[in-house]
Amino acid sequence: MGLRAWAAGRVNLIGDHTDYMGGLVLPMAIGLGTEITGDHGGNWVMLGSDRFDGVAEIPLAGVDDPAAVEPPWARYVAAVVGEIAPDDGLVGMVHSTLPAGSGLASSAALQVAVATALGADLGDPLAVAQACQRAEQRATGVPVGIMDQLVSLAAVEGSVLRIDCDALTIDHVPFPEDAEIVVIHSGEHRELTGSAYAMRRAECEAAEAVVGRLRDADPVDVEAIEDPVLRRRARHVTTENRRVDALASALAKDQLAYAGELLVASHASLRDDFQVSTPMLDQIVGTVRGVPGVYGARVTGAGFGGCVVVLCKPKTRIGGPVVWRGRPAPGAALQATDQSQG
Ligand code: GLA
Repeated sequence: MGLRAWAAGRVNLIGDHTDYMGGLVLPMAIGLGTEITGDHGGNWVMLGSDRFDGVAEIPLAGVDDPAAVEPPWARYVAAVVGEIAPDDGLVGMVHSTLPAGSGLASSAALQVAVATALGADLGDPLAVAQACQRAEQRATGVPVGIMDQLVSLAAVEGSVLRIDCDALTIDHVPFPEDAEIVVIHSGEHRELTGSAYAMRRAECEAAEAVVGRLRDADPVDVEAIEDPVLRRRARHVTTENRRVDALASALAKDQLAYAGELLVASHASLRDDFQVSTPMLDQIVGTVRGVPGVYGARVTGAGFGGCVVVLCKPKTRIGGPVVWRGRPAPGAALQATDQSQG
């Protein structure tokens, strides 16, 4: 008997750089993701990849330092094996339809696919997401939040997820029937390791030391922060949290023109206050906003390159490198297959 484990990538509709500050996010799973086919058995997790060179060969007991494992993509596998501590090994192949380094959570999809293939309890998506988040932090040293792993595990077809990253609760918000999501690639590849991601998080923490939790901070106090950089970072996080709730309610009420305005406001905040956009991303957002049928667009994910998410009428004609279009897809799944996959 073989197995097939699936983990979806995600696009975040709004709420970027808020998850690691205990804020709000509104992502959805997309139909691109990572699949592992294989068979259980043995004392090793041994995986090949159709995308990356080399083989991940990880002992069931895990390794001391996942960040030192070669090839680099096997670091994620090693860190997840360490978290899940499976009783049984796995031999198989990783197949991915997600472009890596594009802001669509390809690394989270790999972690979640490995955890799923190793028999993690999909009935407890939060615990598995927390294990995968720790794994990503150990594998890369980047202090990521929980959004990517949690949406990959907990997504439900047809709904976006409003995640409260402090209470760690999820509300499913039905996506309007008369709308569609399009994801456009900027052509700019980025790595969070070595990017300003960790610096942004540290700046937000420094701002919290001045005004208290950004989640609850009063805008008047934020505007009084003396350091102009910390003031901008804090302004982004506090205004973005409000936009998440505003977008969740706009989608629920089918107020798509207003929903589009919120996306555009989020982009401006990420560009001007959080400073994680690029001229190419700004240009794509500016151009696509003028296309008939488009309600709004913004950079999605961590930024520094990657993709733009567009909210539009179904079947809107959009030029440029569209990597995916559709409605919210389901999350992780595990299937037994009749034949050995080895
Ligand atoms: C990356 C991280 C997430 C989140 C986003 C920005 O995708 O993995 O936790 O912080 O960036 O919103």
